[in-house]
Amino acid sequence: MVLGRGFASGKVILFGEHAVVYGRPALAVPVTQVQAEAVVQAAAPGSGLTIVARDLGEQIAVRDAPADQPLAAAARLALTHLGLADPDWLITVHSTIPVASGMGSGAAVSAAIVRALADAASRESANQQISKSATRNTQYATRNTQYELIAAEVSALVYEVEKLHHGTPSGIDNTVIATGQPVYFVRGQPPQPFPIGRPFWLIIADTGIRSPTKITVGDVRLAWQQEQTRYEALFDRIGAVAEAARPAICAGQTEALGPLMDANHALLREVGVSCPELDALVATARAAGALGAKLSGGGRGGNMIALVTEETASDVADALRSAGAVRVIVTAVGQAA
Ligand code: MEV
Repeated sequence: MVLGRGFASGKVILFGEHAVVYGRPALAVPVTQVQAEAVVQAAAPGSGLTIVARDLGEQIAVRDAPADQPLAAAARLALTHLGLADPDWLITVHSTIPVASGMGSGAAVSAAIVRALADAASRESANQQISKSATRNTQYATRNTQYELIAAEVSALVYEVEKLHHGTPSGIDNTVIATGQPVYFVRGQPPQPFPIGRPFWLIIADTGIRSPTKITVGDVRLAWQQEQTRYEALFDRIGAVAEAARPAICAGQTEALGPLMDANHALLREVGVSCPELDALVATARAAGALGAKLSGGGRGGNMIALVTEETASDVADALRSAGAVRVIVTAVGQAA
């Protein structure tokens, strides 16, 4: 019997990755075409909480898992937050978000686990109340709202897990994934959701190279330690690009975003997080008619994004596939689902 479910979408960073770790602003949007899902079911008495990670072919007994096992950590943090001990539940996790590719797979899986546990807790508690009162009235409740989590709670729990994934996360991934809205994000400040003045089309193309964010973020930190003045100046310029992009997006001035994406990609190359495969896909997208293109996320693999129009989308997508992209997603940012 299903006790609870949780979902979370993937995300892409439009502008500002890496510089956001150093306090500059960044913009990110959810990508609903890819999702993580967690389903909670009842398990044998005494079995405790077990996670089945379908895509990884792994089964994790939460009570025995090491502290840095990310899925178990997400579950433990959620249980503590909800005031639950070790319920006899099985959580099955499945995700269509490509791993280690800049689309927030780790944060989305954590968010789905947190939400599924909260959902199960609220339904279980409501059902227990009903069965106690069943002989006296016919009151019907499906949830106990005490266990419902707001986005900020989900985000804070996922952030704790993100620290295990990649050491010094800025917090942008958990924020955009937990809120499910476009966000303007500055580390340490409340996130600012922003409106999309006019929907715009993005192509997200995957190099197929798995590149854990922890490694690129760590490499950038080493480079920054060695050449602080140069890196601070690069981060300032990236921040200025993100700063210029927000009003353009809010005002529906989509055309302005192409050159800003190109500028952001050039700066990320200087930061040292591009790679020949990303550069090739970026060049291919531009040659096929994209208005601008850049890597998105941690870089050195993973995904790039290209700004297209409804008319150019299929040509650019075809060109990216021919150039070796292993997965191409076409998404309308800001379009009501
Ligand atoms: C990863 O999606 C974005 C980075 O800026 C890292 C971070 O913000 O934590 C590369």
